Amino acid sequence: MRTDVLDIAARLGVLLSPDALEYILSNSDPVSFTNTALSALSSDKMFIKRADLENCLLGDAPIFKSAVTDAPKNKRHTDIEVVAGTDITGNSTCEGEITDFTNYFKSRYDILSRIIARRSDFGVGIPIERAMRLDRDVRVIGMIYEVNVTKNGHIILTIEDSDSNCKVFISKDSPLSGESFVTDEVVGIVGKPNSRKDLLIAEEVFRPDVPRTNRWEPSDSVASVAFLSDIHIGSLTFLEDRWQKMIEWLKQNAYNADLDYLVLPGDVVDGIGIFPGQEKELIISDIYKQYESLAEHLKGIPDHIKIIMQPGNHDAVRLAEPQPALGNIFTKNFDSNIVLAGNPVSVKIEGRSILTYHGKGIDDWVSNVQKLSYDNPIGIMEEMLKRRHMAPIYGQRNALAPERKDYMAMEEVPDIFVTGHIHGAGTSEYNGVKTINASAWQNQTEYQKMHNFNPDPAIMPIVHLGTGDIMMKSFME
Ligand SMILES: [Fe+2]
Ligand SMILES: [Fe+2]
Repeated sequence: MRTDVLDIAARLGVLLSPDALEYILSNSDPVSFTNTALSALSSDKMFIKRADLENCLLGDAPIFKSAVTDAPKNKRHTDIEVVAGTDITGNSTCEGEITDFTNYFKSRYDILSRIIARRSDFGVGIPIERAMRLDRDVRVIGMIYEVNVTKNGHIILTIEDSDSNCKVFISKDSPLSGESFVTDEVVGIVGKPNSRKDLLIAEEVFRPDVPRTNRWEPSDSVASVAFLSDIHIGSLTFLEDRWQKMIEWLKQNAYNADLDYLVLPGDVVDGIGIFPGQEKELIISDIYKQYESLAEHLKGIPDHIKIIMQPGNHDAVRLAEPQPALGNIFTKNFDSNIVLAGNPVSVKIEGRSILTYHGKGIDDWVSNVQKLSYDNPIGIMEEMLKRRHMAPIYGQRNALAPERKDYMAMEEVPDIFVTGHIHGAGTSEYNGVKTINASAWQNQTEYQKMHNFNPDPAIMPIVHLGTGDIMMKSFME
C-alpha cells in the first residue's frame, strides 16, 4: 500500500513528507485518497505536508481551488486502452494443425489451474498419476474430458492433467450432486482414491472463480461508460426510431453527465447469410452498405465520446472465437473516435477493467447446463465467472479457434463484465464484478418469434466508473 501511494506521488511529480505519508496511510482507502488529493494539486506544489492534506479535507485549500481552473470542462481528455494480450487482432497463430489444439488446451489448463492453485482454501495439488496411487485425501486439478451420469444418478467425470487422467465419482447423495459440469472446464478436486485405485471419490470441488473478497473499489473518476449491443443495422427489425431517440438523448445529456465512453459488444450489423432465409428479413442486403449505414448511424453520437466496437457472430469477420476486429474494408467510413477491437477483449477505461464479449458461447451454455436459459443471461455470466472462462465447451455450436493462447479464459478479474448476443437486458453483481447483458436495437425477429423469445430491446446500460452505479436507460417508452 505504501509503495502504491509513493508510486502515485512519483507519477504526479510530488514529494510527500513523512507526516503526510503517515496521514495518508491512516486513511481507510489510502490509494483513492491519494488519487483524489494529489491529482487536484496545483502545479507549483511539489512538497506535500500533512497540513496540506488536512486543509484539502476541509475544502479550503488552494490545491483544490486550482483544480477547478486546471481542468475546465472543454479540456476533457479520455483515458482508454485495450489491455495487452487480450485481443486476438493481428495475433492469430492457428492453422488447424494438431499441435495448435494441444497448445490451445495446454494454455487453458495452465491459466485456469494456476488460478485454482492460488486459492488459499484449495491447498497444494499434485499430479493425477501420483494422487491415484495414494491412500489418503488428495488434491488434483484437471480439465473435464467427459461428463457421464450413471443410471442410478451418480455423476462420473473424466478429468485429465498434462500426463494422466482419472475418473471422479460424485455420489447422487453427495452435496456436490447439484453441481453442473461442462466439458473442457478446469476444476480442482479434493477426494480420496477408492481401494481399487480406479476412481477418485470427490469430497469437494474447487472452481477458479472470482474471490469472494473481490470488491468494486470506488475511485475518483466522474465519467460513465454506456453499452449498445446488437445494433443489427440492415435488419428490417432494426429499431430506427428508438435509435434516433437514444442519439438525441446523448446529444442533450452525455456531455453534462460525463458520459464519455461507449462500448458496442458486437452484432453491429445484421450481416448476410447468417441463417437460412435471412434475405427476407433484411432492408440492406449488401454487407458493405450495412457498415456504411452503421457509420452514418454512429455519426450522431457526440464527438467527445470514445467508442469501442467489437464484432459478433453477425459481423463480417471469422466466426470462430476469439474474433479479430473488423477490417478496414468495412470500417473506412468510421469516425476517428471509434476504436476497433476483437471479441472478446479487455479494455481499461479510467482505471476500470471492462471485459466485453459478444456472447455466442451462451448458446452452448444453455444447451449443456439444465438450470440455464436465455431468459437469464446474468445467471449464465455467473457460470462463466465461476469457471473464469467464457466458452469452455469445445466442438459444439460455438466455434473456437485453437490459438496458442486461450483468449476465452479470464486471466484477470474484470470490474465490469458485459455480454450481448441474446438481446436481453439485465444487470447484477457477482463477487464484486458488475455483470451486464446489454440489450439490442432490433425488435423481435421471425426466428425469435418461432422460439417464443421476447427480447428486451432499446435499453442502454450506463455505469458510473467511479461509484459503479448502474442505470438501465430505456428508450422504449
Ligand atoms: Fe444479435
Ligand atoms: Fe449474436
